[in-house]
Amino acid sequence: MYILGIETSCDETAAAVSKDGRTILSDIVYSQADIHKTYGGVVPEIASRKHIEKISYVVNLAIEKANIKKEDIDLVAVTHGPGLVGALLVGVSFAKAFSFAINKPLVGVNHIYGHIAANYITHKDLTPPFVCLVASGGHSHIVKVEDYHKFKLLGATRDDAAGEAFDKVSRVLGFGYPGGPLINEAAKHGNKDAIPFPRVSMGLDFSFSGLKTAVINYIHNCQQKNEEYNKYDVAASFQSAVVDVLVKNTIEAAKKEKVGTICLAGGVAANTQLREEMKRHAVEEGLKFYCPDLKYCTDNAAMIACEGYYAYKEGVVSDLTLNALPSIDSFLTM
Ligand code: KG4
Ligand code: ZN
Repeated sequence: MYILGIETSCDETAAAVSKDGRTILSDIVYSQADIHKTYGGVVPEIASRKHIEKISYVVNLAIEKANIKKEDIDLVAVTHGPGLVGALLVGVSFAKAFSFAINKPLVGVNHIYGHIAANYITHKDLTPPFVCLVASGGHSHIVKVEDYHKFKLLGATRDDAAGEAFDKVSRVLGFGYPGGPLINEAAKHGNKDAIPFPRVSMGLDFSFSGLKTAVINYIHNCQQKNEEYNKYDVAASFQSAVVDVLVKNTIEAAKKEKVGTICLAGGVAANTQLREEMKRHAVEEGLKFYCPDLKYCTDNAAMIACEGYYAYKEGVVSDLTLNALPSIDSFLTM
Protein backbone atom coordinates (compact mmCIF):
# COMPACT_ATOMS: atom_id res chain seq x y z
CA MET A 1 0.00 0.00 0.00
CA TYR A 2 1.40 3.44 -1.00
CA ILE A 3 0.47 6.35 1.28
CA LEU A 4 1.00 10.00 0.34
CA GLY A 5 1.49 12.11 3.49
CA ILE A 6 1.01 15.89 3.52
CA GLU A 7 1.97 18.23 6.38
CA THR A 8 1.44 22.02 6.52
CA SER A 9 0.50 22.69 10.17
CA CYS A 10 3.18 25.31 10.87
CA ASP A 11 6.14 26.55 8.82
CA GLU A 12 7.18 23.39 6.98
CA THR A 13 5.59 22.43 3.65
CA ALA A 14 6.14 18.68 3.57
CA ALA A 15 5.13 15.64 1.52
CA ALA A 16 6.27 12.01 1.72
CA VAL A 17 5.44 8.62 0.27
CA SER A 18 5.37 5.58 2.51
CA LYS A 19 5.01 1.92 1.67
CA ASP A 20 2.91 0.11 4.28
CA GLY A 21 3.47 2.75 6.96
CA ARG A 22 7.00 2.15 8.17
CA THR A 23 9.00 2.21 4.93
CA ILE A 24 9.63 5.71 3.62
CA LEU A 25 10.20 6.00 -0.16
CA SER A 26 10.51 9.78 -0.24
CA ASP A 27 10.48 12.58 2.30
CA ILE A 28 10.47 16.21 1.15
CA VAL A 29 10.49 19.11 3.63
CA TYR A 30 10.53 22.71 2.46
CA SER A 31 11.27 24.78 5.59
CA GLN A 32 10.23 28.42 5.79
CA ALA A 33 12.38 29.01 8.90
CA ASP A 34 14.72 31.44 7.08
CA ILE A 35 11.76 33.65 6.15
CA HIS A 36 10.22 33.73 9.65
CA LYS A 37 13.62 34.27 11.28
CA THR A 38 13.44 37.96 10.34
CA TYR A 39 10.36 38.35 12.54
CA GLY A 40 11.59 36.28 15.50
CA GLY A 41 8.81 33.69 15.13
CA VAL A 42 6.27 32.22 12.70
CA VAL A 43 4.02 34.81 11.01
CA PRO A 44 0.80 32.85 10.28
CA GLU A 45 -0.24 34.80 7.17
CA ILE A 46 3.19 34.45 5.58
CA ALA A 47 3.21 30.72 6.43
CA SER A 48 -0.14 30.15 4.65
CA ARG A 49 0.99 32.04 1.54
CA LYS A 50 4.29 30.14 1.33
CA HIS A 51 2.46 26.81 1.69
CA ILE A 52 0.24 27.75 -1.27
CA GLU A 53 3.32 28.61 -3.36
CA LYS A 54 5.17 25.37 -2.56
CA ILE A 55 2.60 22.62 -2.01
CA SER A 56 2.22 21.39 -5.63
CA TYR A 57 5.97 21.36 -6.16
CA VAL A 58 6.66 19.50 -2.89
CA VAL A 59 3.96 16.85 -3.48
CA ASN A 60 5.04 16.25 -7.10
CA LEU A 61 8.66 15.94 -6.01
CA ALA A 62 7.74 13.41 -3.28
CA ILE A 63 5.91 11.25 -5.84
CA GLU A 64 8.75 11.52 -8.35
CA LYS A 65 11.43 10.63 -5.76
CA ALA A 66 9.39 7.63 -4.62
CA ASN A 67 9.57 6.41 -8.21
CA ILE A 68 5.82 5.87 -8.48
CA LYS A 69 2.98 7.49 -10.41
CA LYS A 70 0.08 9.47 -8.95
CA GLU A 71 -2.29 6.61 -9.80
CA ASP A 72 -0.23 4.17 -7.70
CA ILE A 73 -1.13 6.01 -4.48
CA ASP A 74 -3.65 4.06 -2.36
CA LEU A 75 -4.29 6.56 0.44
CA VAL A 76 -3.87 10.30 1.00
CA ALA A 77 -3.06 11.24 4.63
CA VAL A 78 -3.03 14.89 5.69
CA THR A 79 -2.51 16.77 8.97
CA HIS A 80 -5.80 18.46 9.87
CA GLY A 81 -4.83 19.74 13.34
CA PRO A 82 -3.63 21.00 15.70
CA GLY A 83 -1.75 23.91 14.12
CA LEU A 84 -2.20 27.27 12.44
CA VAL A 85 -5.61 27.37 10.79
CA GLY A 86 -4.55 29.07 7.54
CA ALA A 87 -1.52 26.82 7.19
CA LEU A 88 -3.53 23.63 7.88
CA LEU A 89 -6.18 24.67 5.36
CA VAL A 90 -3.66 24.65 2.51
CA GLY A 91 -2.68 21.02 3.14
CA VAL A 92 -6.25 19.89 3.84
CA SER A 93 -7.64 21.55 0.69
CA PHE A 94 -4.82 20.19 -1.46
CA ALA A 95 -5.22 16.66 -0.05
CA LYS A 96 -8.99 16.67 -0.58
CA ALA A 97 -8.61 17.75 -4.22
CA PHE A 98 -5.82 15.21 -4.77
CA SER A 99 -7.72 12.28 -3.28
CA PHE A 100 -10.82 13.25 -5.32
CA ALA A 101 -8.76 13.49 -8.52
CA ILE A 102 -7.14 10.05 -8.13
CA ASN A 103 -10.29 8.55 -6.59
CA LYS A 104 -8.51 7.16 -3.53
CA PRO A 105 -9.42 7.41 0.19
CA LEU A 106 -8.48 10.34 2.37
CA VAL A 107 -7.57 10.29 6.06
CA GLY A 108 -7.20 13.33 8.33
CA VAL A 109 -4.26 12.86 10.73
CA ASN A 110 -3.72 14.38 14.17
CA HIS A 111 -0.31 16.05 14.10
CA ILE A 112 0.58 14.90 17.63
CA TYR A 113 -0.19 11.26 16.83
CA GLY A 114 2.03 11.76 13.79
CA HIS A 115 4.94 12.82 16.01
CA ILE A 116 4.50 9.64 18.07
CA ALA A 117 4.40 7.51 14.87
CA ALA A 118 7.82 8.91 13.85
CA ASN A 119 9.23 6.29 16.24
CA TYR A 120 7.80 3.44 14.13
CA ILE A 121 9.72 4.66 11.08
CA THR A 122 13.10 4.64 12.82
CA HIS A 123 12.53 1.49 14.89
CA LYS A 124 10.96 -1.30 12.86
CA ASP A 125 10.76 -3.55 15.96
CA LEU A 126 8.85 -1.06 18.14
CA THR A 127 5.31 -2.05 19.10
CA PRO A 128 2.90 -0.62 21.70
CA PRO A 129 2.54 -0.43 24.64
CA PHE A 130 5.08 2.26 25.50
CA VAL A 131 5.23 5.58 27.32
CA CYS A 132 5.96 8.53 25.02
CA LEU A 133 7.09 12.03 25.91
CA VAL A 134 5.71 14.34 23.20
CA ALA A 135 7.43 17.72 23.43
CA SER A 136 7.04 20.23 20.62
CA GLY A 137 6.56 23.96 20.10
CA GLY A 138 2.91 23.85 21.14
CA HIS A 139 2.57 20.65 23.19
CA SER A 140 4.18 18.80 26.08
CA HIS A 141 2.50 15.56 27.06
CA ILE A 142 3.40 12.24 28.64
CA VAL A 143 1.21 9.63 26.98
CA LYS A 144 0.77 5.90 27.34
CA VAL A 145 0.47 4.46 23.83
CA GLU A 146 -1.67 1.43 24.63
CA ASP A 147 -2.13 0.45 21.00
CA TYR A 148 -1.38 2.07 17.62
CA HIS A 149 -4.49 4.16 18.00
CA LYS A 150 -5.24 4.06 21.70
CA PHE A 151 -3.69 6.71 23.95
CA LYS A 152 -3.93 7.53 27.64
CA LEU A 153 -2.80 10.94 28.89
CA LEU A 154 -0.57 10.61 31.97
CA GLY A 155 0.84 14.11 32.37
CA ALA A 156 1.04 17.48 30.62
CA THR A 157 2.36 20.99 30.96
CA ARG A 158 0.17 23.28 33.06
CA ASP A 159 1.26 26.32 31.02
CA ASP A 160 3.97 26.70 28.34
CA ALA A 161 5.12 23.88 26.08
CA ALA A 162 8.78 22.87 26.42
CA GLY A 163 9.62 24.04 22.87
CA GLU A 164 7.90 27.36 23.50
CA ALA A 165 10.15 27.90 26.55
CA PHE A 166 13.25 27.14 24.41
CA ASP A 167 12.09 29.65 21.79
CA LYS A 168 11.36 32.41 24.34
CA VAL A 169 14.59 31.97 26.29
CA SER A 170 16.56 31.98 23.03
CA ARG A 171 14.95 35.29 22.07
CA VAL A 172 15.74 36.84 25.48
CA LEU A 173 19.37 35.70 25.23
CA GLY A 174 19.62 37.11 21.71
CA PHE A 175 20.27 33.77 19.98
CA GLY A 176 17.23 34.18 17.71
CA TYR A 177 14.77 31.81 16.04
CA PRO A 178 14.21 28.86 16.01
CA GLY A 179 15.29 28.73 19.63
CA GLY A 180 15.54 24.99 20.29
CA PRO A 181 18.50 24.15 18.05
CA LEU A 182 20.31 27.41 18.95
CA ILE A 183 20.02 26.83 22.73
CA ASN A 184 21.00 23.19 22.15
CA GLU A 185 24.22 24.38 20.48
CA ALA A 186 24.93 27.24 22.94
CA ALA A 187 24.44 24.91 25.93
CA LYS A 188 27.40 22.80 24.73
CA HIS A 189 29.65 25.78 25.52
CA GLY A 190 28.18 26.58 28.96
CA ASN A 191 28.16 25.22 32.51
CA LYS A 192 24.85 23.51 33.26
CA ASP A 193 25.37 23.85 37.01
CA ALA A 194 26.14 27.60 36.91
CA ILE A 195 22.64 28.84 37.82
CA PRO A 196 20.15 26.81 39.92
CA PHE A 197 16.96 27.46 37.91
CA PRO A 198 13.75 25.92 39.34
CA ARG A 199 12.54 22.43 38.41
CA VAL A 200 8.76 22.48 38.75
CA SER A 201 6.53 19.43 38.56
CA MET A 202 3.18 18.48 40.07
CA GLY A 203 2.73 14.72 39.99
CA LEU A 204 3.39 13.80 36.36
CA ASP A 205 2.49 17.34 35.17
CA PHE A 206 5.10 20.05 34.65
CA SER A 207 5.31 23.82 34.34
CA PHE A 208 7.76 25.90 32.31
CA SER A 209 6.32 29.37 32.74
CA GLY A 210 8.03 29.95 36.12
CA LEU A 211 11.35 28.73 34.69
CA LYS A 212 11.05 31.16 31.78
CA THR A 213 10.36 34.02 34.24
CA ALA A 214 13.32 32.92 36.40
CA VAL A 215 15.63 33.17 33.36
CA ILE A 216 14.28 36.63 32.45
CA ASN A 217 14.62 37.81 36.09
CA TYR A 218 18.18 36.51 36.27
CA ILE A 219 19.14 38.50 33.16
CA HIS A 220 17.36 41.66 34.37
CA ASN A 221 19.03 41.42 37.79
CA CYS A 222 22.46 41.18 36.19
CA GLN A 223 21.67 44.13 33.89
CA GLN A 224 20.42 46.27 36.80
CA LYS A 225 23.58 45.61 38.77
CA ASN A 226 25.68 46.22 35.66
CA GLU A 227 27.06 42.71 36.01
CA GLU A 228 28.22 40.64 33.08
CA TYR A 229 26.47 37.29 32.61
CA ASN A 230 27.54 34.35 30.54
CA LYS A 231 24.73 33.57 28.11
CA TYR A 232 26.14 30.13 27.40
CA ASP A 233 25.90 29.28 31.12
CA VAL A 234 22.32 30.59 31.16
CA ALA A 235 21.44 28.45 28.11
CA ALA A 236 23.05 25.33 29.63
CA SER A 237 21.44 25.86 33.06
CA PHE A 238 18.01 26.52 31.52
CA GLN A 239 18.23 23.46 29.26
CA SER A 240 19.23 21.28 32.21
CA ALA A 241 16.22 22.46 34.22
CA VAL A 242 13.85 21.52 31.35
CA VAL A 243 15.55 18.17 30.70
CA ASP A 244 15.62 17.17 34.40
CA VAL A 245 11.85 17.60 34.78
CA LEU A 246 10.98 15.90 31.47
CA VAL A 247 13.22 12.92 32.27
CA LYS A 248 12.08 12.53 35.89
CA ASN A 249 8.37 12.57 35.05
CA THR A 250 8.65 10.30 32.00
CA ILE A 251 10.61 7.66 33.93
CA GLU A 252 8.12 7.91 36.81
CA ALA A 253 5.22 7.50 34.37
CA ALA A 254 6.72 4.34 32.86
CA LYS A 255 7.29 2.84 36.32
CA LYS A 256 3.79 3.77 37.48
CA GLU A 257 2.20 2.21 34.39
CA LYS A 258 4.55 -0.81 34.54
CA VAL A 259 5.54 -0.24 30.90
CA GLY A 260 9.02 -1.43 29.84
CA THR A 261 9.63 0.99 26.95
CA ILE A 262 10.06 4.77 26.68
CA CYS A 263 9.96 6.85 23.47
CA LEU A 264 10.50 10.51 22.64
CA ALA A 265 8.61 12.54 20.04
CA GLY A 266 8.25 16.14 18.77
CA GLY A 267 10.76 18.86 17.96
CA VAL A 268 12.27 18.95 21.46
CA ALA A 269 13.09 15.22 21.08
CA ALA A 270 15.92 16.46 18.82
CA ASN A 271 17.62 17.93 21.91
CA THR A 272 21.01 16.31 22.51
CA GLN A 273 20.91 16.48 26.32
CA LEU A 274 17.32 15.21 26.49
CA ARG A 275 18.17 12.21 24.27
CA GLU A 276 21.30 11.39 26.29
CA GLU A 277 19.78 11.87 29.75
CA MET A 278 16.57 9.99 28.97
CA LYS A 279 18.60 7.10 27.57
CA ARG A 280 20.90 7.03 30.61
CA HIS A 281 18.05 7.01 33.11
CA ALA A 282 16.00 4.50 31.11
CA VAL A 283 18.94 2.07 30.98
CA GLU A 284 19.53 2.53 34.74
CA GLU A 285 15.90 1.59 35.36
CA GLY A 286 16.06 -1.41 33.01
CA LEU A 287 13.75 0.25 30.47
CA LYS A 288 14.11 0.13 26.69
CA PHE A 289 14.60 3.54 25.08
CA TYR A 290 13.78 4.69 21.56
CA CYS A 291 13.81 8.05 19.83
CA PRO A 292 13.21 8.98 16.18
CA ASP A 293 16.08 9.90 13.84
CA LEU A 294 16.70 13.63 14.13
CA LYS A 295 14.99 14.41 10.81
CA TYR A 296 11.77 12.72 12.01
CA CYS A 297 11.66 14.68 15.31
CA THR A 298 10.75 18.04 13.77
CA ASP A 299 7.79 18.48 11.44
CA ASN A 300 7.75 16.18 8.40
CA ALA A 301 5.23 14.31 6.27
CA ALA A 302 6.76 10.82 6.62
CA MET A 303 5.34 10.60 10.15
CA ILE A 304 1.94 11.73 8.83
CA ALA A 305 1.96 9.01 6.15
CA CYS A 306 2.92 6.42 8.81
CA GLU A 307 0.22 7.53 11.25
CA GLY A 308 -2.30 7.77 8.37
CA TYR A 309 -1.61 4.13 7.55
CA TYR A 310 -2.33 2.99 11.13
CA ALA A 311 -5.40 5.23 11.42
CA TYR A 312 -6.79 3.83 8.15
CA LYS A 313 -6.16 0.27 9.34
CA GLU A 314 -8.25 1.14 12.42
CA GLY A 315 -11.08 2.19 10.12
CA VAL A 316 -10.55 5.96 10.18
CA VAL A 317 -11.54 7.52 6.83
CA SER A 318 -12.36 11.14 6.05
CA ASP A 319 -14.66 12.57 3.40
CA LEU A 320 -14.56 15.84 1.50
CA THR A 321 -16.05 17.71 4.49
CA LEU A 322 -12.69 17.28 6.27
CA ASN A 323 -11.76 20.63 7.79
CA ALA A 324 -8.78 22.17 9.60
CA LEU A 325 -9.08 21.80 13.40
CA PRO A 326 -6.49 24.25 14.79
CA SER A 327 -7.12 23.45 18.48
CA ILE A 328 -8.06 19.77 18.28
CA ASP A 329 -7.68 18.25 21.73
CA SER A 330 -5.38 15.27 21.19
CA PHE A 331 -5.62 13.48 24.53
CA LEU A 332 -7.65 15.26 27.20
CA THR A 333 -11.04 14.05 26.03
CA MET A 334 -9.98 10.39 25.87
O1 KG4 B 1 7.44 19.40 16.46
P1 KG4 B 1 7.93 20.70 15.96
O2 KG4 B 1 8.84 20.73 14.77
O3 KG4 B 1 6.73 21.66 15.63
C1 KG4 B 1 5.58 21.69 16.42
O4 KG4 B 1 4.72 20.80 16.22
O5 KG4 B 1 5.54 22.58 17.29
O6 KG4 B 1 8.64 21.40 17.20
C2 KG4 B 1 9.21 22.65 17.11
C3 KG4 B 1 9.78 23.00 18.47
C4 KG4 B 1 10.30 24.42 18.53
O7 KG4 B 1 9.85 25.03 19.71
C5 KG4 B 1 11.81 24.22 18.54
O8 KG4 B 1 12.50 25.26 19.21
C6 KG4 B 1 11.94 22.89 19.26
O9 KG4 B 1 10.87 22.13 18.79
N1 KG4 B 1 13.22 22.23 18.95
C7 KG4 B 1 14.16 21.96 19.88
C8 KG4 B 1 15.26 21.40 19.18
N2 KG4 B 1 14.93 21.34 17.84
C9 KG4 B 1 13.68 21.85 17.73
N3 KG4 B 1 14.16 22.15 21.21
C10 KG4 B 1 15.27 21.79 21.88
N4 KG4 B 1 16.37 21.27 21.29
C11 KG4 B 1 16.42 21.05 19.96
N5 KG4 B 1 17.51 20.53 19.37
ZN1 ZN C 1 5.11 19.28 15.21
